[in-house]
Amino acid sequence: MTSNRSRYYMGRRIATVISHEEAGWLCRRERSVEEQPNLLLDYLELVPGMVVADIGAGLGYLSVRIASRITPSGIVYATDVQPQMVHTIVYNAKRLGLPNIKPVLSTPNNLNLPVNLFDLILMVDVYHECSNPPAILHGIRKALKPNGKLVLVEYRAEDPLVPIAIDHKMTVGQVRLELESNGFRFIRTLEFLPWQHVIVFKKRTNLSMRKLLRCVTDLIPSSY
Ligand SMILES: C[S@@+](CC[C@H](N)C(=O)[O-])C[C@H]1O[C@@H](n2cnc3c(N)ncnc32)[C@H](O)[C@@H]1O
Repeated sequence: MTSNRSRYYMGRRIATVISHEEAGWLCRRERSVEEQPNLLLDYLELVPGMVVADIGAGLGYLSVRIASRITPSGIVYATDVQPQMVHTIVYNAKRLGLPNIKPVLSTPNNLNLPVNLFDLILMVDVYHECSNPPAILHGIRKALKPNGKLVLVEYRAEDPLVPIAIDHKMTVGQVRLELESNGFRFIRTLEFLPWQHVIVFKKRTNLSMRKLLRCVTDLIPSSY
């Protein structure tokens, strides 16, 4: 882990970032059984043509799988704050012949993603490491299309049997607290993965369509 002083957000200690030197763990052979990433990818209903962001992509373990499901017309932006991770993604995309992976070097305060483009933004075991959660969430709100989805995958802090360090786990309650305080609407939590929550959000708009229609009908006089 990269060392940094303890920082907190809304009562939660922010985890240290898994460094590129420890990144072998992200593509360990057992991962496909322990975490069942294919179940997650099936749930995401990826189809050709989609524009997806894999934020905190690490070595690109999920990005390459997403890219092959949305090819040829879809594109996955694979971002990370560590240049070494991004270099590995570039290498893997070339090696596997996946030109629809767009590697992006971001910063803890700036996603470096285009605005209003994404159907889906995925963060797998990343959000708890973000050193500036409000900045990242603001960037995600800007990058998502109005009806786009944000999917967070986080190790279950409620379950002591999940063999992951406590700072790298989150409860659903904490995730909701942080996201709902930053302009997101909770959609659902799914518990089909062995170790992780899958938590889905959309952008909160100031006025929902239903409220907007009610405002318009309220303006029409009843005698009309
Ligand atoms: C535990 S790894 C998960 C990697 C990948 N999502 C996976 O499942 O294989 C977390 C990754 O998030 C990256 N990260 C941490 N903070 C970030 C931030 N603010 N923005 C983008 N990436 C970040 C780290 O550099 C690291 O590669």
